[in-house]
Amino acid sequence: MILVTGGAGYIGSHTIKELLRDGQEVVALDNLSAGHRELVLCPEFVEGDLADAALLARTFRRYPIEAVIHFAAHTSVPESVANPRKYYQNNIVSGLSLLDAMVECGVNAIVFSSSAAVYGDPVRVPIPEDHPCAPKNPYGRTKLAFEGILHDYGVTYGLRHVSLRYFNAAGSDPDGEIGECHDPETHLIPIVLEVAAGVRREVQIFGTDYETKDGTAVRDYIHVFDLARAHVRALGALEGGTAAPAYNLGTGRGYTVREVVECCRRITGREIRAVDAPRRAGDPAALVADPSRAKRDLGWEPRFTTLDPIVATAWRWMLRRR
Ligand code: UFG
Repeated sequence: MILVTGGAGYIGSHTIKELLRDGQEVVALDNLSAGHRELVLCPEFVEGDLADAALLARTFRRYPIEAVIHFAAHTSVPESVANPRKYYQNNIVSGLSLLDAMVECGVNAIVFSSSAAVYGDPVRVPIPEDHPCAPKNPYGRTKLAFEGILHDYGVTYGLRHVSLRYFNAAGSDPDGEIGECHDPETHLIPIVLEVAAGVRREVQIFGTDYETKDGTAVRDYIHVFDLARAHVRALGALEGGTAAPAYNLGTGRGYTVREVVECCRRITGREIRAVDAPRRAGDPAALVADPSRAKRDLGWEPRFTTLDPIVATAWRWMLRRR
């Protein structure tokens, strides 16, 4: 059985769906501070916090857990700058509580939700996993620090681990059953689609003077379904002892903010008002993955390689929710 922490969140809930499709038994754990109970498709659900050591011990005793996929974390870059304490407390201290419970209960395999935020401003693009890591904000520092902790727990306690560094997760379940629900929403694609849906007046384009083809920032948008599939592959590689410590998960192709807005106009057929705005603090100009290691080791390749189906699935989910 697989324990999925943060299983009621965006990427966690999509990964549970994929694990179930793969025939795995799953128990989800989530404190519902940002997650949504109705997104959890597995029958076993534990409501609670990773900081609660007694709850973790009970959960590991109650279920025959063989491995953990650890999503539970705070994920907003600007919030991490405003409130670093919250990020170090939850993403590091509570994460340690999980690792200690695993060591005590003899569960020795973990797939960790990391981020392209560990790289900071890239010195070369596309970014391979051995690119220098110099995060620009507390969020990225918590992710990098936790990767280091996993390394140390591996050396000393034999914990098998793999960190998946997501680029820009986007899109929603192609079946339309579950999808992205952040509140407040800060991510580009759902914000642009909220303008299309008439619930937001306009989207601000943060930064129009970057050294990119149209002056706006470039990101590698990876479909959440492809991220979910990568977790199943990474678990298999962990079990087989063939996993590298970290994998980039992206498509290898970048789109500018203006291209995203244009794509949303095309897919929705609606008017979308976009206004130029200053750069957002802490944003790198371009983040694009070199995903070749995941392809080589995990046999993983994104099925959605362009923006259109990412936006189309996100739009379908937004129309369904409203
Ligand atoms: N953007 C806008 N207007 C908006 C929102 C975003 O122009 O209203 C721009 C941003 O400035 C950025 C791009 O759109 O250039 C993408 O922004 P997102 O907020 O959607 O995503 P980020 O690239 O900032 O962040 C994502 C994840 C983080 C992760 C980071 C690096 O949300 O968790 O990628 O991997 F740290």
